[in-house]
Amino acid sequence: MTPTPPRERLPVAVLGATGAVGQTFIRLLADHPWFRLAELAASERSAGKTYAQAARWIGDAMPEQVRGITVLPCDPAQVKSPLVFSALDSSVAGEVELAFARAGRLVLSNAKNFRMDDDVPLVIPEVNADHLGLLEVQRAKRGWSGGIVTNANCASIMAVMALAPLHEAFGISRLFVATMQAVSGAGYPGVPSLDILGNVIPFIKDEEPKIETEIRKMLGRRSDTRIDLADIRISAHANRVAVENGHTVCMSVDFGTHVGADAALEVLREWRGEASARDLPSSPARALVVTDDADRPQPRRDVDAGRGMTVTVGRVRADPLFDVKLVAMGHNTIRGAAGASVLNAELLVSTGQAGPA
Ligand SMILES: NC(=O)c1ccc[n+]([C@@H]2O[C@H](COP(=O)([O-])OP(=O)(O)OC[C@H]3O[C@@H](n4cnc5c(N)ncnc54)[C@H](OP(=O)(O)O)[C@@H]3O)[C@@H](O)[C@H]2O)c1
Repeated sequence: MTPTPPRERLPVAVLGATGAVGQTFIRLLADHPWFRLAELAASERSAGKTYAQAARWIGDAMPEQVRGITVLPCDPAQVKSPLVFSALDSSVAGEVELAFARAGRLVLSNAKNFRMDDDVPLVIPEVNADHLGLLEVQRAKRGWSGGIVTNANCASIMAVMALAPLHEAFGISRLFVATMQAVSGAGYPGVPSLDILGNVIPFIKDEEPKIETEIRKMLGRRSDTRIDLADIRISAHANRVAVENGHTVCMSVDFGTHVGADAALEVLREWRGEASARDLPSSPARALVVTDDADRPQPRRDVDAGRGMTVTVGRVRADPLFDVKLVAMGHNTIRGAAGASVLNAELLVSTGQAGPA
């Protein structure tokens, strides 16, 4: 069913608009058919400057319409949009996002602060759209009309896109995952060039516990008031590599009963994800694509698939220690961050959970 667009474009704000994820929000929202990019906010260092003065723009040309916008402080008394995308650093996201939710705004957050709270949805629309039902629980419990909806850590999103069809079909019991994460995942300016050029750094602060818990929440089942975490034992290794964009995750998976590589491949190829997540403005033609090429997915070749919203899976094969092993890769600041939030917002609007009263 084609989703119903709002009668007029909804004004939206971006908090943390000057950072790596904030800039991706601006690219995705500049000509969005449902949302009008009305306000930009960042730290006191940027507030009061025009966006062109405040942001050190990375990559292609800055959209003309944002150049002259005056950057606001992240204060709900000054930022008035009902829908707020947050690309804030986690050191401030907690306090700021709470203030916006208390002020009746719906916050779509990229930060880690609230992801694992019992009443906070952690959502990938194609995988667990029903978890958005927690928003009602959250509003009742916290006594606010606003809300906080989160998307996961960027590496967890790539993993879950590939694991969801397998978990749905066979039930995953154990998972070993090793990531190779792009430098843009560390924000701007991020990792010093002399640390990362020609190098691999086998440590990303707090990343492994996030991967080990967030995957279980997204693959978990919703009960009336909370999510029961999926019963999967997970071991994660997180590595930073000298790639600009695109997180790669190598995974070995065990199921409750033995599953062969051919059966896994068939399920991955057929999966389309939740119907409510198709045909939204940011939905890719295919959320998951399986490649037959022996040496893919690769960030250089596959990162822009589906305008950065498609996750590419390959190398699905038998594992001598587990049942099956495979590789998944996707764009970390689009599918893994800003694009994920925008898709969540589109789903909320199309299902009447956000938008004009
Ligand atoms: N990069 C990714 O691939 C990725 C993926 C998933 C999730 N995330 C999460 O998304 C968030 C943003 O990440 P990023 O990579 O875009 O980081 P970033 O490039 O470091 O940008 C951080 C943003 O937060 C703002 N900020 C910092 N301190 C502030 C304060 N005291 N008050 C208000 N604003 C403040 C900065 O504004 P100023 O410019 O004014 O300092 C900037 O706009 C983080 O929580 C991160 O963990 C990132």
